[in-house]
Amino acid sequence: MSITRTSVMADGLPPSLLEMLGHEIEILEWDDRPTSSALERAVAFITYGHPRVDGPLMDRAPNLKIVSNHGVGVDHIDCAAAKSRGILVGNTPGCLDAATADMTMALMLAAARNVVAGDKFARSPAFVHYDPSFMIGYEVSGSTLGIVGLGRIGKQVARRARAFDMKILYHNRSRDEAAERELGVTYVSLDDLLAESDFVTLNCPLTAETTNLIGQRELGLMKPTGILVNVARGGVVDHDALLAALKSKRIAVAALDVTAPEPLPRNHPLLELDNIIIVPHLGSASNRTRHRMQQMTVENLKAGLAGQELPWRVV
Ligand code: DGY
Repeated sequence: MSITRTSVMADGLPPSLLEMLGHEIEILEWDDRPTSSALERAVAFITYGHPRVDGPLMDRAPNLKIVSNHGVGVDHIDCAAAKSRGILVGNTPGCLDAATADMTMALMLAAARNVVAGDKFARSPAFVHYDPSFMIGYEVSGSTLGIVGLGRIGKQVARRARAFDMKILYHNRSRDEAAERELGVTYVSLDDLLAESDFVTLNCPLTAETTNLIGQRELGLMKPTGILVNVARGGVVDHDALLAALKSKRIAVAALDVTAPEPLPRNHPLLELDNIIIVPHLGSASNRTRHRMQQMTVENLKAGLAGQELPWRVV
């Protein structure tokens, strides 16, 4: 008796996720250029490392019914194109808010207190004695934080920042009075947030409205001692403008979890600067969170394959 397996196209899945999928699912490898035969057989896509899924790709996959994304951000998927073709898109919201907020704090603290430069120095032969005049950073405690995007992750950042006695400003598409009451945050315009904050964290999704939201004009509004932390998407920041602002010390430091493109070309001038920290998209990369993201990815996929409502559906 032959067993029919469902064909799912996926990019670079780890063994833990393959195990959750089980034997009834056949994984068709998704390299840079998916083959026509894989596309023709695929009933679903799992987008693990955020490969681009656009209308023309969907059109090459005549049996495609579900795109299950590992992660909450779906800016790499043309959701409108999926909707118009009746293809369901699922994601993994909620489970990664705490881990991503933790990373926001980690980058803010590391950028402010020379953690990366200090580590390099402490390992080098140059460290011969303790010098109290050396590597004086910026104090996070008691400073002003501006959160751009007070969604689920932004709110978790605010919770953490309260423990650091920070004054917290936020800017969002719309005011959130319940959050203001609960978290003691203050709504301001983006320009006021940039001008008044010591630390600016980007915690918004990448959309048409937030693409290049932070450009030359916006960086010019920040304090010269200002620190910009991006855990959203690279596309929220104009990287040419960021390079100019960091080089001219128009702002003090940037700490990026994400870049555009990702990764940056190895000879990109941002990689040469001393006043930047870059980590390789680690926002949600904690053991518990990544495990839950894998579970949710599989739950969405299996529900869709069974003809049921996706537990976490985007379109
Ligand atoms: C997300 O969930 O969007 C994170 O960037 C990890 O993929």
